[in-house]
Amino acid sequence: MNEKQRKEQAQIKQVSSVDRKSSQDKPLSEKTTEDFAHYFQTTYTPPDIKKARKRGRDKIEVHYDFEIPEEMSKIGKGKKFLIRTYGCQMNEHDTEVMAGILSEMGYESTLDTDDADIILLNTCAIRENAENKVFGELGHLKPLKLEKPDLIIGVCGCMSQQESVVNRIMQKHQQVDLIFGTHNIHRLPDLIKEAMFSKVQVVEVWSKEGDIIENLPKVRHGQIKAWVNIMYGCDKFCTYCIVPMTRGKERSRRPEDIIREVRHLAAQGYQEVTLLGQNVNAYGKDFDDIEYRFADLMNDMHKIDIPRVRFTTSHPRDFDDHLIEVLAKGGNLLDHIHLPVQSGSSEILRKMNRKYTRESYLELVAKIKKAIPNVTLTTDIIVGFPNETDEQFEETMTLMEEVGFEAAYTFIYSPREGTPAAVKKDDVPMEVKKERLYRLNDLVNKQSAESMDAYEGKVVKVLVEGESKKDETVLAGYTEKNKVVNFKGPKSIIGKIVDVKITDTKTWSLNGELVEKTAEVSN
Ligand code: 5AD
Ligand code: SF4
Repeated sequence: MNEKQRKEQAQIKQVSSVDRKSSQDKPLSEKTTEDFAHYFQTTYTPPDIKKARKRGRDKIEVHYDFEIPEEMSKIGKGKKFLIRTYGCQMNEHDTEVMAGILSEMGYESTLDTDDADIILLNTCAIRENAENKVFGELGHLKPLKLEKPDLIIGVCGCMSQQESVVNRIMQKHQQVDLIFGTHNIHRLPDLIKEAMFSKVQVVEVWSKEGDIIENLPKVRHGQIKAWVNIMYGCDKFCTYCIVPMTRGKERSRRPEDIIREVRHLAAQGYQEVTLLGQNVNAYGKDFDDIEYRFADLMNDMHKIDIPRVRFTTSHPRDFDDHLIEVLAKGGNLLDHIHLPVQSGSSEILRKMNRKYTRESYLELVAKIKKAIPNVTLTTDIIVGFPNETDEQFEETMTLMEEVGFEAAYTFIYSPREGTPAAVKKDDVPMEVKKERLYRLNDLVNKQSAESMDAYEGKVVKVLVEGESKKDETVLAGYTEKNKVVNFKGPKSIIGKIVDVKITDTKTWSLNGELVEKTAEVSN
């Protein structure tokens, strides 16, 4: 670590000293923020949403020197960890990194809370119900902590980047030993050490924009599909979204690091990678020394010998012609694009700060369909944005049909503290929002079922992932367009891409029969 980083760390390191022993004079439920005020004023600086909103010109630093401190490298021997993950693929992948770090410290993973010595909740802040689930889980863990005082309970992920959440945990959830933010994952060994040896709640949440830490260890979930981060953060500032505050500014990993990681995964036998970023189309915009964007990266991915490359998630605004041209090459670049639209009304899109209109979105879709005629498009939609009118909602319904989305993740707008939309007066009753969601979901189901019907009798390529969750005599896998297929076949084909003839279609899945030829080929 250089001098600048040391200083920076000294400034922003936020280890709180809420001494749980000395604060036992008053029941926690009766404590107010004032009871903790002296900590805020002295040793504890909460995550700062205003600071998190700022975008500076500081150069992004890439660190390649991650190491587990010697004294922590065996501390987990004979102990177990459990990480519960909420939210998006980015969180799933962060969990893989934390599992990697803990494994290098000697810990083993467990699925049993009673068996765990460390329990981490990797949280999501995108909607209120995601937060409620975490607070519910913290409540469930309280008796366990009372029974096992040495158990370390940690809260990390997007919720810990929010001041209100950190305050609430400090005041009401003393069973939590450790709170750390999305920019602090590489500090896990030191944080665990602090949590083990101090009697105080350890809080370290950096609100700074974040650097890039390479060479972090990972324990990946499975050996068939892998996630690869290509960039972190988001600079789009959609008015409803908390992510730019919880994940910091857009910063891209260097192409050579990504390419090396994907090549390595291919060499290990992985069949599919999904390139991850909050807005992958902005990849490379932050490089000031090279002209290399997402289309260039996809072009390089096309040359790598790995059967399937996906990416998520796209922002329509940055989806340029060069990218369409590269995706049209096909091969391992699959013809499924997830392109969140959020609303079909230009006025709502303006209020959401999406920086495109219904018309320009449709133009983009037309361009994509022309270049990739067989493309499958899926999307994200929010209903009930503040003051959304019936007419504006109808525009979302017609857009859904006009584009012909084959699937959509649909959400009722959830106000997020610290975002511009959250302070807007909203005249749409919750009942109306729910009705809109139900109607939209009916349409989504109808379009999904229709897209599935078209597969009847066709042969599709399926990457076999394992036994079906519902029936272990059945195998399950995904087509190139990410449709689930269930079929019977030998377990020896798990991890391979096989041909399956579709015999029966459902709204969200397909049933089929293994085409024997490929079973022979792939055996
Ligand atoms: N309320 C509801 N949905 C939201 N999303 C993001 N923020 C909110 C919010 N405040 C949705 C968007 C995004 C997806 C990941 O979550 O549709 O694309
Ligand atoms: Fe949130 Fe918009 Fe960024 Fe997506 S593009 S993460 S919705 S701010």
